[in-house]
Amino acid sequence: MDRIPKHIAIVMDGNGRWAKRQNRPRFWGHKRGVERVRSTVEGCIDLGVEALTLFAFSTENWKRPEEEVSYLMGLFISSLKREVKRLHRNGIRLKIIGEVSRFPEQLQEAIVEAEVLTQNNSKLLLNVAANYGGRWDIAVATKQLCQDVADGKLRPDEVTPEKLQQKISLNDCPEPDLFIRTGGEQRISNFLLWQMAYCELYFTDLYWPEFDRAALDMAVQSFGDRQRRFGRTGDQLTKEGNEGA
Ligand code: IPE
Ligand code: IPE
Ligand code: MG
Repeated sequence: MDRIPKHIAIVMDGNGRWAKRQNRPRFWGHKRGVERVRSTVEGCIDLGVEALTLFAFSTENWKRPEEEVSYLMGLFISSLKREVKRLHRNGIRLKIIGEVSRFPEQLQEAIVEAEVLTQNNSKLLLNVAANYGGRWDIAVATKQLCQDVADGKLRPDEVTPEKLQQKISLNDCPEPDLFIRTGGEQRISNFLLWQMAYCELYFTDLYWPEFDRAALDMAVQSFGDRQRRFGRTGDQLTKEGNEGA
């Protein structure tokens, strides 16, 4: 594989349907889904991907039955506690994006601990989007720009996409190049709205617990086969010899 995305963003969807198909409860699918996080992280390191962003819990997922929400919170805490040492050993820097203040205290503490422990690692940046919504992200960035204006640090006519970019999540790593959604649905579900402006989209019918290394390779292969034009013409890119720059 010649062209490897620098940053992959994944909507890990289909846990519930995968479990249901086997007459198991939904939570069983979530549990098995965590195992796929581990293998996907390893696959990304192996491929030389710099950043991986995983959608774990959306701002809309609070609408699920209380029992499922609290199971997911518990799973998040236990996975974080269990996996953090392994992540650290493997040189992974962990970052949580989203409004974590709504999470149980115990989870917030585990997040801070994990982020501090792994902050100097550089093999892979693993962003986990939790209580995250693309609209929330843009609103928070906008609020900060408004505050800068109110403080006299910025004039309204100086507000540009670049200024907003400086305030939004994931501004410390390359923009996502490849978006993967498992589970067969072809939608973004309020994931990285701003950051995905020029991302290549890839959808697979595989449920998340089925997403193995071969499936990851297929997605990356598809990415490698595409010509990213960023508004230019194909001829321009071929002439410049920088196809897919
Ligand atoms: C994704 O799987 C995991 C979370 C949203 C936390 P789902 O739970 O959405 O699984 P389906 O889509 O119902 O099959
Ligand atoms: C998106 O999946 C959120 C996560 C994977 C965390 P959903 O299953 O919540 O998305 P919708 O509701 O089908 O759009
Ligand atoms: Mg779903």
